[in-house]
Amino acid sequence: MDPKEVAGKKATEYVNSGMVVGLGTGSTAVHLIRALGERVAKGLQIQAVPTSEASARLAKQVGIELISLEENSVVDLTIDGADEVDPTLQLIKGLGGALLREKIVAAASTHRIIIVDPSKLVSELGTRAPLPVEVVPFGWPVVQRFLVEEKIFSDLRLRPQGGGPFVTDNGNYVLDCRFPKGIPDPAKTESWLNHLPGVVENGLFVNMADIVIVGHEDGACRVMERP
Ligand code: 5RP
Repeated sequence: MDPKEVAGKKATEYVNSGMVVGLGTGSTAVHLIRALGERVAKGLQIQAVPTSEASARLAKQVGIELISLEENSVVDLTIDGADEVDPTLQLIKGLGGALLREKIVAAASTHRIIIVDPSKLVSELGTRAPLPVEVVPFGWPVVQRFLVEEKIFSDLRLRPQGGGPFVTDNGNYVLDCRFPKGIPDPAKTESWLNHLPGVVENGLFVNMADIVIVGHEDGACRVMERP
């Protein structure tokens, strides 16, 4: 079985009728949304806040009712994927480019579940995935210069797409930043990056995951809870 599907299906067990559910973005979240759609077809009554246009489209296709944060700014449970998970359940997210809406919806949520396959588990953040930093198009060269001058990244590049820069659902660009030996202090790094003028958000999700569900090929799941 696909471990992402295993994790996505397992997470639906935490969803009950009456909930407002935050829907993540990415290939693991696709499995979750499809599985939720199947439960909705059988009578589950939920409203959902999507974290991207892609997740909104899929949710509509499978019959999940969508609601905006303007209509309801409290989300009961958000379920989303991640690019890296460390042993204390700190995360890097945003390789799918939806980090800003994902962080807003996660912050609005009472409970947060992360669904991953085993390849996402790391001993230290920043050792496998780059850290995505969402920047406004007007200021990205300045942010890039500031970051290069810090001399803490082994690689730093504007994310490309189709011959130009990748553009997020919010109309911004993404700088993918690689650290030579991981990120020793994720909380400090998250806050430092977000204070740079031109940075909208970054992919460090510190103390946000309550539960991480790791799906395995044999259909089993490991459920990790933040201490
Ligand atoms: C999108 C994300 C995704 O959750 C993350 O990239 C994981 O994606 P996938 O489930 O496809 O591995 O943060 O912005």
